[in-house]
Amino acid sequence: MSSNRREFLKLSGLAGISIAGTGLLAGCATGSAAEEQAKSNLDQIAQQAKRKYTQQFNMSGYSAPKLDKVRIGFVGLGMRGPGAVYRMSNIEGVEIVALCDLIPERAEKVKQQLQERTGTAHNPTLYSGKEDSWKEMFDRDDIDLVYITTPWHLHTPQAVYAMEHGKHAAVEVPAATTIEECWQLVETSERTKKHCMMLENCCYDFFEILTLNMARQGYFGEIIHGEGAYIHQLVDLNFDKNGYQDMWRLKENMNRNGSLYPTHGLGPICQIMNVNRGDVMDYLTSVSSDDFMMYEEAQKRAEGDNFYKEFVQDTYRGNMNTTTIRTKKGRTIMIQHDVTSPRPYSRIHLVSGTKGIARKWPEQKIATGHGWLSKEEVKALEEQYTPEIVKRIGEMAKKIGGHGGMDFMMDWRLIDCLRNGLPLDQDVYDAASWTAVGLLSEWSVANRSNSIDVPDFTAGAWQTNAPVDLSLAGGGTTNVIVKSN
Ligand SMILES: NC(=O)c1ccc[n+]([C@@H]2O[C@H](COP(=O)([O-])OP(=O)(O)OC[C@H]3O[C@@H](n4cnc5c(N)ncnc54)[C@H](O)[C@@H]3O)[C@@H](O)[C@H]2O)c1
Repeated sequence: MSSNRREFLKLSGLAGISIAGTGLLAGCATGSAAEEQAKSNLDQIAQQAKRKYTQQFNMSGYSAPKLDKVRIGFVGLGMRGPGAVYRMSNIEGVEIVALCDLIPERAEKVKQQLQERTGTAHNPTLYSGKEDSWKEMFDRDDIDLVYITTPWHLHTPQAVYAMEHGKHAAVEVPAATTIEECWQLVETSERTKKHCMMLENCCYDFFEILTLNMARQGYFGEIIHGEGAYIHQLVDLNFDKNGYQDMWRLKENMNRNGSLYPTHGLGPICQIMNVNRGDVMDYLTSVSSDDFMMYEEAQKRAEGDNFYKEFVQDTYRGNMNTTTIRTKKGRTIMIQHDVTSPRPYSRIHLVSGTKGIARKWPEQKIATGHGWLSKEEVKALEEQYTPEIVKRIGEMAKKIGGHGGMDFMMDWRLIDCLRNGLPLDQDVYDAASWTAVGLLSEWSVANRSNSIDVPDFTAGAWQTNAPVDLSLAGGGTTNVIVKSN
């Protein structure tokens, strides 16, 4: 990016502002209608963040009526969706009744694979071909849960439509693309009394859930500080024409500047700090580096292939974003996002308290003083603090898989809660607030890292909401159907 343009964007306070990857600043001239629109979006973030809200009904701790059988419709069968169908087909009490993707062959292939493996157990109807074919599926009255694995801009419209049409919604991360959408999720879930769970699978990874259990039992003392991240070099996949459908993820990353994908690092830390259930995020501040890589990558590819010309955009974006959050109870959280730099994968997952610390990346470590504990000592702690869910299905989850098993533990827990009428571990307030951090970070980046309040989506209920229950009490009854690929 030319330094003149970069300076203009910084000074005009427009840096990084766009709507859901539509690239409002892309190539637009100074003072254009698009930049006016971008300014207004910036104002809207600030306004929506300040919104006063009165809760209609508290979905935290809410038990929906038990479902003996959970009938699922899936939408979005690209790289992520088919694995979810596979995992769910291994869970007792699940019936896969509908599959939807814009691209017919994708839905057909998933159905074929499912039936080859499970025979007549599932006979899903397929919905495809039109941008809104999914509505036909959601209009059915024999679906209990819609499982949404589409591009980001469809998450809230689909989750809201599902709840409005009598279904629970399980939606991939992040749950929304504007703060207004975050509020829509909260309002709709409260009004319809339907669950809206964001599928934050990292909350079920083995070390994350171990440290949650340790925190609950006081091992770390009072939690002071946590760190998380999404550091994952995705340049090749983002630029791959056969990767994300219609290059949606590249468009998001080319046109926005902030912590675009915050929830993998943030979710587990929020659970450990009892955010929305004893504490709440208060405000944040965010800073991004310049973009040292993506413009050049687009330019390099465009030289040999006209397809990439549309991505040679002089928008203000960054490679590394660092966001810091303070909670009402005085704790701090640091979240990083970088999907371009050549670095090993990391979600950091650091938990620091008055009595000890744990850190997952680059290597799992625990300490209660100056030196890290030995591998044997960590192993002993792992045995002592193994959470109930890991005891119940941990080994099975590793076999069935999905990021080493965490995806399966998440899906199994969701179904077990629905079948036993238990509250979900992740409610709509978690979906909204964890997602909002990324959106608010874009405002802060565009405003020289000024702080911005994180809305309290619980409208004060955080003070009395119960923490996530790790005991499996009242549940744990759902069996795993052992069938390999
Ligand atoms: N939690 C995780 O670990 C994890 C991992 C990967 C992806 N994800 C999330 O999963 C979601 C999907 O990612 P992906 O990698 O599968 O992307 P993808 O592009 O491979 O798949 C998206 C699918 O949605 C379909 N789609 C697009 N518009 C549609 C419409 N109008 N109606 C029906 N289908 C439509 C596309 O055809 C495509 O098959 C994203 O939100 C992503 O952030 C989460």
